[in-house]
Amino acid sequence: MSKQILFINACIRGKEISRTYKVANAFLDEYKKNNPDDIITELELGNIKPEYMHYDNYEENDAYIKKRDFSSPMFDLAKQFVSADKIIIAAPFWQFSFPAALTSYLENVYVAGLTFRYSPEGSIGLCKAEKLIFITTIGGDYSSPEMFEKFISLKHLKALSELAGIKNFDYISGECLDIVGYDANKIVNECIEKAIKKAKLF
Ligand SMILES: Cc1cc2nc3c(=O)[nH]c(=O)nc-3n(C[C@H](O)[C@H](O)[C@H](O)COP(=O)(O)O)c2cc1C
Repeated sequence: MSKQILFINACIRGKEISRTYKVANAFLDEYKKNNPDDIITELELGNIKPEYMHYDNYEENDAYIKKRDFSSPMFDLAKQFVSADKIIIAAPFWQFSFPAALTSYLENVYVAGLTFRYSPEGSIGLCKAEKLIFITTIGGDYSSPEMFEKFISLKHLKALSELAGIKNFDYISGECLDIVGYDANKIVNECIEKAIKKAKLF
C-alpha cells in the first residue's frame, strides 16, 4: 500500500541556492526510485508562511484545544503531520537552530490532544509516522563534543520527534560549508552520497 510522505521544506534561500535543499532533493529522488507508489507532499514553508502564536490568535487556538474541537482549519497542518507515514524535514542551520518559518510551523503542528497527549505517566505521542529524518547544512564546524552541544536544531527536532511518538529519528548534516579553505561543493556532494544511502533504507 502506498505511504504518505510529508516533506517539510524550510530551505528559505530557495531551491536554486540552498545547499540543504540540494541534499534533500537527492534524498527524495532516491526515495522515489525505491518507492514509486508512495505519495510525497511538499510543504514549502517559505511560501506557506505558517502563522506563529500571538495575542490575536492564541486565545482562539487555546479555546478549541480545551474543547478538543479540532475542526477549525487552524489545525489542518497538525492533522496532516499526525497522519503522515514518514516525515522529512529539510532546514539550514540558523542561529544554532533553524529558520523561524519552521518554528512557526511546529507551533501549529504540536497540538495537545492531537499530536501528543498528557497522561499521569507523562506525555504520549499520537503521530502515525514511523520515521522522521532531519536534513541540514551548517556554516561552521560542530563536530567536537563542545560544538555538538550547540547543535540545537538537532536536539530540538529529536525531542519533538519523541514527543510525537515517532520512534525512528535520524539526521544528515553537511558541515563547515562557510569556513574559508573548505570546499563547500565537495562537502555537499559527500552529503548527497550519504543522503542517497539513507534514502534506500528510509
Ligand atoms: C540567517 C543565517 C543564520 C545562520 N546561522 C548560523 C549559525 O548559527 N551557525 C553556523 O555555523 N552557520 C550559520 N549560518 C550559515 C548556514 O548554516 C550555512 O550557510 C548553510 O549551509 C545554509 O544552508 P542553505 O544553503 O541550505 O541555505 C547562518 C546562515 C544564515 C543565512
